Amino acid sequence: MNKGPSELELTVGQLAQRSGTTVSALHFYERQNLITSWRTSGNQRRYHRDTLRRVALIRIAQRVGISLADIREALAALPDNRVPNRRDWQRMSQRWRDDLNERIRLLEQLRDDFTDCVGCGCMSIDRCALANPFDELGAHGAGPRRLLEGKSSLRTVEGAERSGQASS
Ligand code: FES
Repeated sequence: MNKGPSELELTVGQLAQRSGTTVSALHFYERQNLITSWRTSGNQRRYHRDTLRRVALIRIAQRVGISLADIREALAALPDNRVPNRRDWQRMSQRWRDDLNERIRLLEQLRDDFTDCVGCGCMSIDRCALANPFDELGAHGAGPRRLLEGKSSLRTVEGAERSGQASS
């Protein structure tokens, strides 16, 4: 790849090519204050090479559902006047650790447990009468209670079957 005017500078085309995104997406990120550039005397945008890492983070964070506002807030914690080091990135990603762990838990449940009753109150599949008899989980609050609360704290279908409780 042509490194352009400097090893540390990238044109918008180079940044798009190397980051696997489009020029229009980079312009969008810039309008959203997620990345910054400066202008040459010929009024062309230039990006510091470390913008590649920022774009990588933005794209991955977006793919796992982190909002642009949260991404912007996290990126704002990185230093402006020097290239962020490992500690800077560690501090930044630490902010998302709990949130990401919860997302991972929910994604795993969606992948593994959505064939079972989720405790949403619909009573529409055969196992609902066992896992959520008479929609008793509705008393815990709104939404899919067996996903939100985790099945460990709730009745399991298998446990109900073993104890010979409700059936449909
Ligand atoms: S899946 Fe909705 S209450 Fe069971």
